[in-house]
Amino acid sequence: MILMKGKSIVSIDDLTIEELNQLIDTSIRLKDELYSGERRDVLSGKTLGMIFEKPSLRTRVAFETAMTQLGGHAIYLGPDDIKLGKRETTEDIARVLSSMVDVIMARVFAHKTVEDLAKYSRVPVINGLSDFEHPTQIVGDMVTVKEKFGYFKGIKFSFIGDGNNVANSIALAGAKLGMHVVIASPKGYELQKKVFERSLEISKLTQAKIEITNDPEYAAKDADVIYTDVWASMGQESEAEARKKIFAPYQVNSRIMSLAKKTAIFMHCLPAHYGEEVTEEVGHGPQSVIFEEAENRLHSIKAMIVHVTR
Ligand code: CP
Ligand code: NVA
Repeated sequence: MILMKGKSIVSIDDLTIEELNQLIDTSIRLKDELYSGERRDVLSGKTLGMIFEKPSLRTRVAFETAMTQLGGHAIYLGPDDIKLGKRETTEDIARVLSSMVDVIMARVFAHKTVEDLAKYSRVPVINGLSDFEHPTQIVGDMVTVKEKFGYFKGIKFSFIGDGNNVANSIALAGAKLGMHVVIASPKGYELQKKVFERSLEISKLTQAKIEITNDPEYAAKDADVIYTDVWASMGQESEAEARKKIFAPYQVNSRIMSLAKKTAIFMHCLPAHYGEEVTEEVGHGPQSVIFEEAENRLHSIKAMIVHVTR
């Protein structure tokens, strides 16, 4: 076992290739244990502090349930509870909270906030989504990919949509796992250059292939996975209307799915806006694994908490 005790997971790039694989394998093991009725209170006496600047269904419930099922406790601190950066500085919050709890998760607007929490915290900090990355989502999604295909190398994983936080984490994880990642976005909304370049650098070690394109059909062709996310992320609500027009050609619908392999799966981190980035027919269709993905958030978040606290 690779020791990860004390490690913060602010970015997918904080994880070595071995650590990422270990988290995926532990997630599957913890899932099996839960299904077979084996419950181990490995987090007995441990407390998780959860900071939320934005809303959440999956991430909050996954972290909270993870602690309950493993015998620990979670404390929810919503936007009105601690008023991060307004009532108190990020540094002071990190120092105080980490003097009491064993692990912290934070869902924030600015990525720097979660970086600062990790910098000043004396316990591990897990990024529960920032404007730059969504690492817990993608560890869980890679669990789903492993369950569906059994391997990663060479899987064509195409993300069609905004080059956003989810896309960033996909590119980095795909590079580490040796996948063929294609990110198709409208002009001006592509994957950030620094993420693309870092992914290419990682790919040299893993023989991954990372591509960016403006052509959704190129991305969809012969894909094993077609993934999309909302066109306007939390915090971009004022751009939502304008983005609808720009992103319309990037909708994942049955025509796009028909270009992928017959065995392809459709993925979405959720929440989804049906009729925008994905049609209802695809989102709730036979190739969709969106609810398995959502469930795997629980198992993968458990794995992350267990590894960084023990
Ligand atoms: N996918 C995801 O992070 O969902 P929530 O925003 O509901 O947590
Ligand atoms: N890109 C989306 C993901 C939501 C889970 C957002 O940041 O709102």
